[in-house]
Amino acid sequence: MMKALLSTTTLALLAGLSLASAETPVERGEYLVRGIMGCGDCHTPRTNPPGPYLSGGNKQFAGQANSANITPDVETGIGGWSDEQIIRAMRDGKRPDGSTIGPPMPVRDYRGVSDDDMKAVVAFLRTVPPVKNKVARSEYKNPLPDSYGPPVTHVAAPAAGDKVALGGYLAGPLGHCMECHSPLKDGKADLEGQLGAGGQTFRTPKGEFVSANLTPTGLSRYTDDDLKKIITTGLRPDGTKIAGPMEVELYAHMTASDLDAVVVYLRSLPPKG
Ligand code: HEC
Ligand code: HEC
Repeated sequence: MMKALLSTTTLALLAGLSLASAETPVERGEYLVRGIMGCGDCHTPRTNPPGPYLSGGNKQFAGQANSANITPDVETGIGGWSDEQIIRAMRDGKRPDGSTIGPPMPVRDYRGVSDDDMKAVVAFLRTVPPVKNKVARSEYKNPLPDSYGPPVTHVAAPAAGDKVALGGYLAGPLGHCMECHSPLKDGKADLEGQLGAGGQTFRTPKGEFVSANLTPTGLSRYTDDDLKKIITTGLRPDGTKIAGPMEVELYAHMTASDLDAVVVYLRSLPPKG
């Protein structure tokens, strides 16, 4: 009797411990989708107040694209798609019917998202309330590419303990900091020649903004703590606030270790400009 009681308590304790320490895929997915990946920025109706989470319908790309309903509604969202079909849409830009998903959807970045994180994103998407909202098809003036490259079959997560690799993964495939913070070349961010050099211009309803140089040349005036504060709150040490298209709310809840990795990565970039 005593023995049985003890082992039940031990089991309960162990279960409690593992729950406390390991993040579930749904939790990981929520951290990414509501945070650094910012799916809601494009996929939640930008009405005032905002429409139902991830239910789609925003005009993008000079009015040519409509962001999709990615809630689990079977008829008008992606509830009928398998996990593999959703992952293929994100990484390869292909719907189950074979059609190509247009450029506002950051497929180029998502090609680099790890298998585990992709599965976590899908696991979280399945938990979002389904919303019936039929979104009109996007109509592009120029034909879309047949593909964004060969199908992505496997992406490993950054090696454990490699802060620069983790920071590059957060600032690249997950958060696309670098897509905004590198100048354009032939209409695409020049991630090879001018990575992080800034100088890309954004025309927004609030005005025109130029992305900052995030290489050591641009950031030498900031301490690591300054930088972390800027990234998570938008506030610079001189009291000015980031006003452009950078959505600092997405980064407000980054874990301390992720934030640290981003800063270590930025400090490691080859200086530009
Ligand atoms: C910068 C804007 C933007 C971001 C960020 C974004 N998307 Fe998209 N996404 C779009 C647009 C626009 C479309 C529709 C494009 C079209 O119709 O050609 C789309 C299409 C999709 C589709 C295809 C759905 C369908 O029915 O065709 C899926 C799935 C999807 N997005 C998932 C996601 C997820 C998950 C995230 C976050 C991890 C995300 N998107 C982030 C803009 C975005
Ligand atoms: C949608 C485009 C976009 C994304 C994504 C983005 N930024 Fe920015 N960022 C900008 C722009 C534009 C500015 C300049 C804003 C201004 O002048 O008010 C800026 C400003 C900054 C600054 C202030 C630099 C200075 O000199 O004061 C830092 C630091 C920064 N971004 C880091 C990041 C990091 C790290 C990420 C990813 C986690 C990121 N940004 C994602 C567009 C972006």
